[in-house]
Amino acid sequence: MQRARVSQISAYENEAVEIRGWLYNMRSSGKLHFLQIRDGTGIIQAVVFENDVPAKVYAACGELSQESSLIVRGTVRREPRSPQGYEMGVTDIEVVQHAADYPITPKEHGVGFLMAHRHLWLRSSRPHAILRIRSEVVKACRDFMDEQGFTLIDAPIFTPAACEGTSTLFEVDYFGDKAYLTQSGQLYSEAAALAFGKVYCFGPTFRAEKSKTRRHLTEFWMIEPEMAYCDLAEDMTVAEALVAYVIKRVLDNRSAELEVLQRDTGLLQKATPPFPRISYTEAIELLHERGSDIQWGADLGGDDETILSAEFDRPVLVHRYPRQVKAFYMKTDPSDERLALCVDMLAPEGYGEIIGGGQREDDLHVLEERLTEHALPREPFEWYLDLRRYGSVPHAGFGMGIERVVAWLCGLHHVRETIPFPRTLSRLYP
Ligand code: 4AD
Ligand code: MG
Repeated sequence: MQRARVSQISAYENEAVEIRGWLYNMRSSGKLHFLQIRDGTGIIQAVVFENDVPAKVYAACGELSQESSLIVRGTVRREPRSPQGYEMGVTDIEVVQHAADYPITPKEHGVGFLMAHRHLWLRSSRPHAILRIRSEVVKACRDFMDEQGFTLIDAPIFTPAACEGTSTLFEVDYFGDKAYLTQSGQLYSEAAALAFGKVYCFGPTFRAEKSKTRRHLTEFWMIEPEMAYCDLAEDMTVAEALVAYVIKRVLDNRSAELEVLQRDTGLLQKATPPFPRISYTEAIELLHERGSDIQWGADLGGDDETILSAEFDRPVLVHRYPRQVKAFYMKTDPSDERLALCVDMLAPEGYGEIIGGGQREDDLHVLEERLTEHALPREPFEWYLDLRRYGSVPHAGFGMGIERVVAWLCGLHHVRETIPFPRTLSRLYP
């Protein structure tokens, strides 16, 4: 018998097929059992009529419990009342495994309980929809990079040095030496950009974030493009184009999932380029108008970002922050040496920062001074300084956090739902 997947079921009208899946839900009435079967691609109703199946099979159906694994055979028929437009008239069922007392029932559970059962919760409609959107976002990012002529050059995860400050480093014992889990692949992307022109790395990054917020994970995925012969203006244009591309792909290909999440897609449709660009100094003025008492020179906190991003109906690019709140590698703005040639992109609806990046310091001596100012050791950065010794050029790039983007596109309150197995200050299990 031919094997069908629920998402392709319309191709099998009036044909006998087999679906391999799990029991999502069921009810019985008279001589009928109505089984909701999920196979990973969707859910279909399988109708078991007492007269159509062997007596043993009908009786076994009555005993089935949620998440039992089943192979269901029958005929696909049109059913306008079903969400797929089709259902199955069952002729036979093979039980692969009886699952007794599945802990996640259709009733409401708290997030703590669901997160502790994340390995099972993935089967439910909400995480399923979110993770399908995540998968689309990742694919869209890679397609964009390929189409724009970037080469994938991945960065290592064990590193000898801090890229994003020493306060969030995860230290590991590396055969008796100290190593750190990478906070960002950027420094390696810079090396690769000087070798390949336009590159990106894409992988997990780690930060020992000790504060509990709805935007921070200790392990998250970042895509980091880096371009040789590129300045801040061009960097911002690429960031804008990437985000616009990702939004469009999700709207085009994942509308069913957005509907499961009851996402207001009108708001996403509005997020088209050009995205507004404001300087940090303008952002501070805007914050003051909105009643904030933030001082010029301070980094924007989560609440400031929320206020700013709620001002615009599309992502906003905030550029030229004070150098003192940014990383050592940022290039100084030649027209105001208090500022760095950097940019953060804040997503609308209060989501805050999804991208951080900018132009890199390309002068050897200035970079050496920065290392000293930031109290960073010189030796683990020698290779990085080589990039300024041998063919240094203006270059720029950025990092986009996948979880932040998915949280925004899905309209979620917390980033923990955007990654299959979240890692936070308080969660390492499952
Ligand atoms: O702004 P960040 O720290 O920038 C960098 O790491 C640069 N080295 C990137 C580059 O220029 N190649 O982080 C970049 C993005 C943030 O905008 C945010 O989306 C995400 O990474 N991010 C986090 N996401 C989840 N949990 C955390 N703890 C995050 N920290 C940063
Ligand atoms: Mg940042």
